[in-house]
Amino acid sequence: MSLLTIQNLSMVYANGHRALTSVSFTAEAGEIIAIIGRSGAGKSTLLRCINGLQRPTGGQIILDGDDVTQKSEAEWYQTRRQIGFIWQEYNLVDRLPVLTNVLTGRLGYTNGWGSLAGFFDRSHRAIAIRNLERVNLLERANQRADKLSGGEKQRVAIARAMSQEPKVLLADEPVASLDPELSMQVMGDLARVAREDNVLTLINLHQVPVAKAFADRVIGIARGEVVFNGLPSELDDVALDQIYRFDKLSSQAPSKQPAYA
Ligand SMILES: Nc1ncnc2c1ncn2[C@@H]1O[C@H](COP(=O)(O)OP(=O)(O)OP(=O)(O)O)[C@@H](O)[C@H]1O
Ligand SMILES: [Mg+2]
Repeated sequence: MSLLTIQNLSMVYANGHRALTSVSFTAEAGEIIAIIGRSGAGKSTLLRCINGLQRPTGGQIILDGDDVTQKSEAEWYQTRRQIGFIWQEYNLVDRLPVLTNVLTGRLGYTNGWGSLAGFFDRSHRAIAIRNLERVNLLERANQRADKLSGGEKQRVAIARAMSQEPKVLLADEPVASLDPELSMQVMGDLARVAREDNVLTLINLHQVPVAKAFADRVIGIARGEVVFNGLPSELDDVALDQIYRFDKLSSQAPSKQPAYA
């Protein structure tokens, strides 16, 4: 049985817009999968359905044998700590020290801030410190998060997500705000720690070269459907054309150009 099975997943928004149409794929522990597709293809919708921020309108998401689409809000609270999330804009708490930000990754394992605020629990603190060390930011542990550069902030976000000890890590355009060189460095850190911990990682990416450099597998989405699911080496011009081709009949005019050049 696969760690993650997505079966006939569909998402129709309240305004009637169909963002996902019968998406199906499976994924295994430790795999790093890049999800690519033009703007509006449905990449973010897919990740939001997997982490429970959004209820799909049809289909199933089976995580480790558990159909999460059937869960109540209360049950989701337990499930969510198994799913780490990395945002394009980091989502750190600016005025808090770096280490405290990383410690918030442990909140799902505690009774809340009370036990974390004073660092009472040494085991949580040890996990946070170890993960900060893995992204080479331990010397910044006591600095306020807003004093960091973009690349450093994203590495703190990676340390926070890994401190959650998740089964699945989801990243939505994690390097879109960084320059190309920094993008490769941050992606390198993300891929390395995920592989070390055998965490299934799904990453929405706009840059095909970045996907090719770090992913074990690439899933291409166009107009809410999977149109490619294969190795990075199989991503040839025909596949790229299928993924990025502009559909003149579609009402989903792109808001930004695909960046696969
Ligand atoms: N809350 C919403 N209500 C209605 N339509 C929405 C909503 N959120 C997203 N959409 C639409 O669903 C489609 C898929 O959006 P989504 O954000 O998943 O695309 P994406 O592939 O992540 O795009 P991008 O690369 O620009 O981030 C788009 O056409 C978008 O406009
Ligand atoms: Mg998106």
